[in-house]
Amino acid sequence: MLLLTGATGLVGSSLLRRLLAEGTQVRCLVRNPRRLGGQRVRVQIALGDLTDPPSFRNALRGVQTVVHLAASIRDQPRGSIEELNGIATWRMVQAAQRAGVERFVFFSVLDASTHHRARFFRAKALAEQAVRESDMRSTIFAPSIVYAPGDPWLTLLERMALLPVVPISGRGRAIYQPIWAEDVADCVMAALRNGEGEYNERFELAGPETLSHTEIVRLVLRSLRRRRMLVHVPTPIVSRSLRLLEATMGTGAFATWDEAELMEVSMISTRGSADAEGFGVTPEPMRAILAQT
Ligand SMILES: NC(=O)c1ccc[n+]([C@@H]2O[C@H](COP(=O)([O-])OP(=O)(O)OC[C@H]3O[C@@H](n4cnc5c(N)ncnc54)[C@H](OP(=O)(O)O)[C@@H]3O)[C@@H](O)[C@H]2O)c1
Repeated sequence: MLLLTGATGLVGSSLLRRLLAEGTQVRCLVRNPRRLGGQRVRVQIALGDLTDPPSFRNALRGVQTVVHLAASIRDQPRGSIEELNGIATWRMVQAAQRAGVERFVFFSVLDASTHHRARFFRAKALAEQAVRESDMRSTIFAPSIVYAPGDPWLTLLERMALLPVVPISGRGRAIYQPIWAEDVADCVMAALRNGEGEYNERFELAGPETLSHTEIVRLVLRSLRRRRMLVHVPTPIVSRSLRLLEATMGTGAFATWDEAELMEVSMISTRGSADAEGFGVTPEPMRAILAQT
């Protein structure tokens, strides 16, 4: 039995499709089973929440492998970014060890570090440490930006493309190697099939192109065939406005400063797409995927 968290998310939904096609028995820890769509009748459901550790214990019964994808880049009413990404992963690792899980697969982020300026990266660094130091065989994936047409990030960019000018937080010079969610899911499947790897493995997942934030926005505009002027909004103005918005609208805010800040920090692997290619996956360029939509 494999426990998958985050099965309703971008990577999780692509991965779940593949796991079920291969006949793997999957249990999904979810907050709302409806968000699994038609797949919910093909999996075991464990109702749970990252902020509710007792729910992990039930979910882990009889599980050999955990793929822990659930995460959040914004604070939630019941848990901060640190609790949802850092402490929850530590608790999941503890619970998995107690339940006799053999292998723990975890998604971090490129350049996670305890000294990083962004809270999400600091929380992921602590989570990585908990996974690495556990007694289980561990596989850590550290991706650059993961995208798929229609995902919340590209949808937000598409909505902004309706404005007469498109705002970009800061100078837009942070660089990324965007990787398609389907390529990421292929890498995870290949890693799961490989029972012979090192006891503690870490892979960086990056697409074939290095693009700045500004270049990504231009690419999206081109794929939508919209010509728009880009306006760089100074970071202090963006952070103050989004913090004010979050304070007034709470979790309903269309964007938060913690999310916007992720587009001001580069996520680059010096290995490029080598780790993905090691799994037999040749990541698609973002321009090719966007051109298909
Ligand atoms: N997307 C990227 O650019 C990127 C970059 C680097 C690293 N990563 C990491 O890669 C992994 C997969 O990312 P993704 O983009 O597929 O994530 P995603 O689309 O944002 O999905 C997040 C998942 O976590 C679940 N979740 C959120 N809060 C939860 C809570 N309190 N309790 C239980 N489940 C909760 C969501 O479930 P609901 O349906 O209930 O909301 C959803 O299934 C994550 O660990 C992420 O941090 C992603």
